[in-house]
Amino acid sequence: MTQTQPAASESDSANRAAKARIDLSRHLIELAHAPELTRFDWEALFGNPHPVEFEIGSGKGLFLANVAASKPTRNFLGIEVSRKYAEQAALRLAKRSLTNARIIHGEARAILERAIPGQGLAAIHVYFPDPWWKTRHRKRRLVDPWLLDQVERTLKPEGEIHFATDVAAYFTVIERLMETRTRFHRVPWLSPVDPELSADGLTNFDRKYRAQGRSIHLARYVFTNGDGGTDATSS
Ligand SMILES: C[S@@+](CC[C@H](N)C(=O)[O-])C[C@H]1O[C@@H](n2cnc3c(N)ncnc32)[C@H](O)[C@@H]1O
Repeated sequence: MTQTQPAASESDSANRAAKARIDLSRHLIELAHAPELTRFDWEALFGNPHPVEFEIGSGKGLFLANVAASKPTRNFLGIEVSRKYAEQAALRLAKRSLTNARIIHGEARAILERAIPGQGLAAIHVYFPDPWWKTRHRKRRLVDPWLLDQVERTLKPEGEIHFATDVAAYFTVIERLMETRTRFHRVPWLSPVDPELSADGLTNFDRKYRAQGRSIHLARYVFTNGDGGTDATSS
């Protein structure tokens, strides 16, 4: 009899066993039910003054772990609303002893508004943000004008925002929204040799969708003081 086994790192029981031995407290920030939030002091959180990048909806943390490992002089903070995934991401960071990455268990909108300081982020990453891309779901979508107001508030000048999705219609919505933001200048997507792009996929969903042969839509914008041009890139 053949039986398909989940990969060890993604099996709940393996994670429970690993969690019993690995301390997640250095990597997991529990803010999901925090009654009061104060804004982060990045230097206090990471113990250094390096630039901070923020990933919204980190899932199981593949991007967070790979990018933190490849860029030790930058700090990475993810946020994930699912406790199970936030713990899996923290476990991934802890297993690799990454000192420059943390994951928050919490809801992105509340945390962005109340805990992320202004003009402090070097980059924001939004990859395969949510399943709410249909028109009837638009009120539940993560990427909307309110979110972009927060992006403009929290990014440093010359900071970047990166989007990825497999849903062409949602990508068009994001492009249209970004076109209304004159301080963003669209630039080409990162080169495949950039360490931010791991050989086997940017994120878990990127890896999964590429294996299924789906098109992935990618966009990268720099926050500037001038008017932006456009330079679309998909892969
Ligand atoms: C489709 S998954 C993609 C995960 C990961 N970025 C990837 O590409 O593999 C979207 C993730 O975003 C999380 N998410 C959606 N809305 C969120 C929100 N408002 N705050 C925090 N996380 C959110 C979901 O729980 C889910 O894990």
